[in-house]
Amino acid sequence: SRIAVPPRPETADQFAAALSTCTRCDLCRHATQAVPGEGPADARLMLVGEQPGDQEDLAGRPFVGPAGKLLDRHLVEAAIDRDRVYLTNAVKHFKFRPQNKRRIHQTPNRTEVEHCRWWLDLERERVQPDLIVALGKTAALALTGNGDALLKRRGQFEATPDGTPVLITVHPSYLLRLPDPRLKAEEARAFTDDLAKARDHLA
Ligand code: URA
Repeated sequence: SRIAVPPRPETADQFAAALSTCTRCDLCRHATQAVPGEGPADARLMLVGEQPGDQEDLAGRPFVGPAGKLLDRHLVEAAIDRDRVYLTNAVKHFKFRPQNKRRIHQTPNRTEVEHCRWWLDLERERVQPDLIVALGKTAALALTGNGDALLKRRGQFEATPDGTPVLITVHPSYLLRLPDPRLKAEEARAFTDDLAKARDHLA
């Protein structure tokens, strides 16, 4: 008998429908749902995070929790309109370990990132952004194949294998976790500067 090959998703709705049945890795077993990217198909700027967090997993939308709220503030400071940006994640299912009644975030491993890159590549093909901002190490790995430490790379332009420029920066959760208020303020300013660099690149 013949195996039915599902059609390649073209529209955002087809993409979300196909993604919702993904079993490419084990993360689908415990997450509530896969979270597709969101934003206009003609966005010039794509922002890529790591994976949905607790709130994104429940809502089915990217960057709606604390990291997303902080990202929103920095986008405003950098004069970037969130509604014109395509926002997505390197990995589409929430990876966590249960602890009492909480779900504690776990970083996806390289295999999970590689399995999920199939979806990220489809989003990149559909949107064809002029510039992608990698928020943190997982996004930088997914987009460039380079898993080196982030802090030497941040603020710099790298590229996807097919040549789309990728500006590397930190993840907003990193800012949320910094305990020292002075360092936090400095890093927050640098994050806004990186986003402003992305805006200027597109001007
Ligand atoms: N962190 C991410 O990387 N992505 C989200 O969607 C939310 C938090």
